[in-house]
Amino acid sequence: MAGRLSLTRLPSQAPAATAVPAMAARMAPVAAASSFRIFPAAASRARLSVSSSSSSTSLCSRKCLRSSPLVSHLFLNQKRSPVARVSENRGLSSVATPKCAASDPDQLKSAREDIKELLKNKFCHPILVRLGWHDSGTYNKNIQEWPQRGGANGSLRFEIELKHGANAGLVNALKILQPIKDKYSGVTYADLFQLASATAIEEAGGPKIPMKYGRVDVTGPEQCPEEGRLPDAGPPSPADHLRDVFYRMGLSDKEIVALSGAHTLGRSRPERSGWGKPETKYTKEGPGAPGGQSWTVQWLKFDNSYFKDIKERRDEDLLVLPTDAILFEDPSFKVFAEKYAEDEEAFFKDYAEAHAKLSILGAKFDPPEGIVINEGPSESAPEKFEAAKYSSGKRELSDSMKQRIRAEYEAFGGSPDKPLPTNYFLNIIIVIAVLAVLTSLLGN
Ligand code: HEM
Repeated sequence: MAGRLSLTRLPSQAPAATAVPAMAARMAPVAAASSFRIFPAAASRARLSVSSSSSSTSLCSRKCLRSSPLVSHLFLNQKRSPVARVSENRGLSSVATPKCAASDPDQLKSAREDIKELLKNKFCHPILVRLGWHDSGTYNKNIQEWPQRGGANGSLRFEIELKHGANAGLVNALKILQPIKDKYSGVTYADLFQLASATAIEEAGGPKIPMKYGRVDVTGPEQCPEEGRLPDAGPPSPADHLRDVFYRMGLSDKEIVALSGAHTLGRSRPERSGWGKPETKYTKEGPGAPGGQSWTVQWLKFDNSYFKDIKERRDEDLLVLPTDAILFEDPSFKVFAEKYAEDEEAFFKDYAEAHAKLSILGAKFDPPEGIVINEGPSESAPEKFEAAKYSSGKRELSDSMKQRIRAEYEAFGGSPDKPLPTNYFLNIIIVIAVLAVLTSLLGN
């Protein structure tokens, strides 16, 4: 394997196990200082009752707060919210449960703007992408029940899961996002993690990801997945290992390769994962906290340089993990890796699809079809007919649509190539008006 150039693993540091005590020590003041803010589950069984409302919280989110299972941790996060108070009185817990989305669409949009600001100031794109992936990547398609099946359910906010070896350093991502979570109580952690990750990809110059929201959060640490569901960077047989892990999530070879392309962003730090150099010429100045070893030269720019750089292996300062190297060695992975090294557009297209799929693994949506907050129509919505769209020449009509239009014209003796004389339209309007009057008379 071509570890000669760039595969660097500090011998003194085991990747997972030894990272944990050090991280736990680093986390102790965080946990002590913010107690329930980051690890809120300790009191998650407290009951709630609703009191006065807040002008900053929408009606929908107030309803959610009353009915949603995430209510306990949200309120515990917010110390004492003006919207509701935590009560130990069990008798007050039975409140009507109106149907409501897990996250409020307006708050999701505002949170997205705040994330964009955060990215501008902190250059934290890579760690936010890793946070989203590590929340969803625990999914096991062979388990039906939620949340046992793992996946994008916000469980990564709990200390027990943050302490998993694979998650070393991700407590920092949570700390960065917590103020946004506190500001938008109508956004679940599960949505916030995926929103932050997709926004980071897009803001780094990557493709637009067709995301949906409305993920329900798990409520306590007992619902976290067991350790060991995420991939290792240096297993004995990297191709088999990647397939074991990603096939368990229901993902394909193409998706494994496309998603690995996320390593075009970010760095590996030996003090976290055990992989990478302490610093290189590309990382010693930051931006963000200096140090670590990046896969690419411009590690805050999302492009296809990850594939080009692994292929060429010209720079010892660039990282190639065993699981990266195998993408150009395994015959099935190689087809995609070569393609992405040549064709950035193909990479962007496949990456966007694979990322959207990764972001919903194991998630429970409320409403079940999810919420789309992107500008433009939702992907699942039927196409609306807009005359302007068809006359601009930008979009070709399907043959069936052309036939339908032709038939409609011909029914009135016209043709789409030759506009109908105005009196035809006048006649139609008169007939419709007469019918409307008759219907209303009959109705009365
Ligand atoms: C294919 C199996 C994968 C392995 C073995 C792997 C392993 C790793 C390792 C060891 C690190 C360094 C962590 C550190 O020291 O801070 C890392 C970082 C990272 N990973 Fe992966 N990863 C994999 C897949 C993915 C996927 C699917 C994504 C996203 C879709 C992803 C996104 C990232 C990002 C953005 C970073 C940089 C984090 C930072 O700079 O803070 N990885 N990965």
